[in-house]
Amino acid sequence: MDLYEYQARDLFEKYEVPVLPGIIADTPEEAKAAAEKIGGVVVVKAQVKTGGRGKAGGVKVAKNAYEAYEAAKAILGLDIKGHVVKRVMVAAGAQIEREFYFSVLLDRSNRSYLSLCSVEGGMEIEELAVTRPDALARVEVNPLTGIDSAKALEIARAGGFDDDLAPKVADVFVKLYDVYRGEGATLVEVNPLILDGSGNIIALDGKVTLDDNASEVRHPEHEELEDKSAADPLEAKAKASGLNYVKLDGQVGIIGNGAGLVMSTLDVVAYAGEKHGGVKPANFLDIGGGASATVMAAGLDVILGDAQVKSVFVNVFGGITSCVAVAEGIVKALEILGDTATKPLVVRLDGNQVDEGRAILAAANNPLVTLAAGMDEGADKAAELANA
Ligand SMILES: Nc1ncnc2c1ncn2[C@@H]1O[C@H](COP(=O)(O)OP(=O)(O)OP(=O)(O)O)[C@@H](O)[C@H]1O
Ligand SMILES: [Mg+2]
Repeated sequence: MDLYEYQARDLFEKYEVPVLPGIIADTPEEAKAAAEKIGGVVVVKAQVKTGGRGKAGGVKVAKNAYEAYEAAKAILGLDIKGHVVKRVMVAAGAQIEREFYFSVLLDRSNRSYLSLCSVEGGMEIEELAVTRPDALARVEVNPLTGIDSAKALEIARAGGFDDDLAPKVADVFVKLYDVYRGEGATLVEVNPLILDGSGNIIALDGKVTLDDNASEVRHPEHEELEDKSAADPLEAKAKASGLNYVKLDGQVGIIGNGAGLVMSTLDVVAYAGEKHGGVKPANFLDIGGGASATVMAAGLDVILGDAQVKSVFVNVFGGITSCVAVAEGIVKALEILGDTATKPLVVRLDGNQVDEGRAILAAANNPLVTLAAGMDEGADKAAELANA
């Protein structure tokens, strides 16, 4: 999960990383009140989960509360790379002497952590990485030992800091690593980390990505950080039922058991769709091993709730999952949905208790359900129905 800047700021504060006061606001009036509370020059910043806010006009300096009101009015509703701004943060204005860059992240390809650092921070870091890669130091961080004072100093020196500044920023690097480790993050990035007019080092912007696997087990409190309003409503509904669901941009709803089978089903349906008006899979949904009738019903409920879906292909190879549970789930789901279920279902069952499963569907004799003998046949039928 990516965090908003203000959430990153709050986490930084908890770990004693130096930050400036910041107050969130959802309206220009709230922004004005926030600016009055902070006092002096403030900066109004768009809270969106994408980079390049400054360049897109999403970061504005305001000399007083009235200007903060105007700035918030201009920024709220702005579209930054497809993200519409619904909230701003009003932050105390810093007197910037110099801008630096620091990040620590999970380096999957090397099964390690990596720190990036440069004395030349600010808005153009991506450009710097391309045009002058030497100016951006890359230092491997051993996950077992992390970033202690010595390691932090090594990173600072590699990034080009002099004797005077290196120990000061190193102090902050250690704290930022504490955030990374302590919160189970896969990325902590500060751009810019600044030196202000009084010689203080301050994190002016923060990007944090939390590892969802760590959050589930070690950090139940992270759930509060999730922006439920920004999530796709169908994905949110699926998540609440514990389903592994990803919405895609197609017309054929897919339900299968096991990620591998579902992925193959997406391919086969996309291929079959080429002959049927170019229809595509509408989603990924893995009901997993040992799925019960309830899970099946919940899955169908989510998929049929997608207005784009024109047909559904249920492709189950019964291993741990019994075809009886799947068949009962389909019958039960159709019962629950009643007249609201109007979309055709193509069902391919095989494996564990296949004959009993098929018998249940045959006995229910629902006109919406078509049984398919195999995967290719089922995909073809579902694509054809979606195109009808
Ligand atoms: N509190 C502040 N006081 C003074 N100047 C600020 C403040 N916050 C940001 N700035 C200035 O605005 C620039 C852009 O801000 P920031 O880094 O937060 O956004 P960004 O880099 O455009 O967004 P992103 O990091 O999402 O790409 C900074 O480099 C800094 O010069
Ligand atoms: Mg930035």
